[in-house]
Amino acid sequence: MTAAGDQRRLVPAPPPLQDPEAAAAPAVRLLFDRATVQARVAELGAELRADYAGVEPILVSVLRGGVMFLADLVRAAAMPCLVDFMAISRFDASEATGVVRIVKDLDLDLSGAHVLVVEDVVDTGLTLTYLLRVLATRRPASLRVCALLDKRARRIVDVPLSYVGFEVPDVFVVGYGLDLDERERGRGEILAVDDLAAVRRDPTLLDLAGPPHGGADLRGTGPAVPAVPSQRAEPS
Ligand code: IMP
Ligand code: MG
Repeated sequence: MTAAGDQRRLVPAPPPLQDPEAAAAPAVRLLFDRATVQARVAELGAELRADYAGVEPILVSVLRGGVMFLADLVRAAAMPCLVDFMAISRFDASEATGVVRIVKDLDLDLSGAHVLVVEDVVDTGLTLTYLLRVLATRRPASLRVCALLDKRARRIVDVPLSYVGFEVPDVFVVGYGLDLDERERGRGEILAVDDLAAVRRDPTLLDLAGPPHGGADLRGTGPAVPAVPSQRAEPS
């Protein structure tokens, strides 16, 4: 070993080159924790119960993002109501028009009914505007919207929202029904993803409020389903 070699070992290695701003900016932020989401849903439920007293509205959910919200909202409202589901797919991949194809239509007849569309997030407003136009042709007695999240800064068409859970900034939001590549819908909290590429590389960045699904990290378990212990009592 040369003296120069020994000396080089004593000099600490420089830190890897990185953009100081990128290092400071977190990839994910917690927007609303579980308790905040549940408290707001309870308030909205109480509002619906008061506003729809004496009538039995039809709550319409658009699959799949709005399902968690709808499920909690009907329980919070604890009022007589019907629920129905639609599934839509965009005609226009550029998302420029909002024209959608109905993949699964409602089963219930809306004519003469008080209809409340329960949406996850209103972004440009294009999808919802198109949907409301379609539903209006079915002659409901009233047609309103309850949106969990209002991303107002992104609005292209003005669409009246009768009930709003929270306003959110122009950022990709995930959790409580909202997906990232079809995953993460089961989280009770709502997260803002500022760096999608970083989160796709490392989904554990989303675990700001603890891992999803009550503690067990089920990501990447693939087709190998762990054995579920039998709940049945052994015959005696
Ligand atoms: P809009 O037609 O631009 O208002 O888009 C509405 C639909 O896009 C929503 O119902 C969501 O399904 C989806 N979407 C918009 N923003 C987000 C987001 O930040 N996270 C997840 N889905 C979103
Ligand atoms: Mg939606």
